[in-house]
Amino acid sequence: MDCGQQYPVDRIIYVCETCGGLLDVCHDFDAARISRELFDQRLGSLQTPYRSGVWRYKELVYPAVPDDQIVSRPEGNTNLYHSPTLAKWAGVKTLYLKHEGENPTGSFKDRGMTGGLTQARVLGVQRVACASTGNTSASLAAYAAFAGIEGIVFFQNRQIALGKLAQAVAYGATCIQVNADFDRNMTLVREVADTLGIYVLNSVNPFRLEGQKTIIIETLQQLRWQVPDWIVVPGGNLGNSSAFGKALHELHELGLIDRLPRLAIVQAEGANPLYRSYEHGLNGLEPVHAETIATAIKIGNPVNYAKAVRALRWTDGVVEQVSDQEIMDAKALIDRQGIGCEPASACSLAGTAKLVSKGIIRQGETVVGILTGHILKDPEATIQYHSGTLADIESAYSNALHQAEPSLEAISQILETRQAVS
Ligand code: F0G
Repeated sequence: MDCGQQYPVDRIIYVCETCGGLLDVCHDFDAARISRELFDQRLGSLQTPYRSGVWRYKELVYPAVPDDQIVSRPEGNTNLYHSPTLAKWAGVKTLYLKHEGENPTGSFKDRGMTGGLTQARVLGVQRVACASTGNTSASLAAYAAFAGIEGIVFFQNRQIALGKLAQAVAYGATCIQVNADFDRNMTLVREVADTLGIYVLNSVNPFRLEGQKTIIIETLQQLRWQVPDWIVVPGGNLGNSSAFGKALHELHELGLIDRLPRLAIVQAEGANPLYRSYEHGLNGLEPVHAETIATAIKIGNPVNYAKAVRALRWTDGVVEQVSDQEIMDAKALIDRQGIGCEPASACSLAGTAKLVSKGIIRQGETVVGILTGHILKDPEATIQYHSGTLADIESAYSNALHQAEPSLEAISQILETRQAVS
């Protein structure tokens, strides 16, 4: 990452042999070709691969790859919701929510996976694998199937997201439930891959992060390149945070934006190793045992720690933590807007509100919060919240399910007596 050692693009390697850090994809950008106009011209294009919200920015993602090697659904082109109601609730003037749950398999992972599977095809590998809390597995399984490559997924032993498992099984991946948590699986998949010659598509793979950069690039294009004051993102394995930092740094260096927004990374209190490190000056990571209702970010030993620290330094960023209560309340509010997201995504809104209350985000500022996944992930948490059955969580914004006999009278009674949901 920082030591300057370079490796050829067709070598399978994740960790630098000199410094032990993760690798970056380094581009020799063709600055003369890269322009806002080029990306604007491609908006609305029906041409493959440029109609993808990742490959529209090909010159910033993987300039040299031949178009016919690209594995694309296509992905991206997700909505940026302007939400005055949620802005008011969080205490800021302007809030946008970028909904990455609107990707083909229901999460931002598709943006990384198109990059990762494209590189897998370039390298000619036969098998790709990942450990996953859910979304990566569904995405890998779908993109591997699309590319005609075998996908292998390691699921953890507890709190498996059923919908995600269903996707991975249905898309035809080899699914293995390992008796271990995500962090152990992350190490295991790298061991197995090294020994058996399988290509790893977790976010240790730098080609994944190149795709994920486009969450930022697309957001800026949607904002007509007006840079917001803050970008707020949930942090788990910290791939997104790392990709966002790289994207912003590159866009700034290339002159596509004239200033940098500040990055706020929000973790769940029960899975907060980056937050703890931040409190101690970002001088190293102590892994934690992770527990949170936000299963997507139930990660205690994030592999991208060093890159996330770099992103924080580049953007004068901050780290915040939020409780499961704050996550579920923020999620209920996002859901009620008709936007909807899974629990981890709600860290963006909960974290914004917290940072405003601390005076770190100021009221007049513009915030973009990233919603990383679809409302249909972890639906049992949603139902339990609304029925008031979540242990240790109060359901301040619940919308309970009514039970009724099949009669006009019973239904009328419910409709007349129910409390209107505000
Ligand atoms: N939000 C969602 C919905 C996720 O699925 C993940 C990660 C994150 C946030 C955290 O992103 O790792 O880039 O900081 N999910 C991974 C998975 C770990 O296996 O699906 P990060």
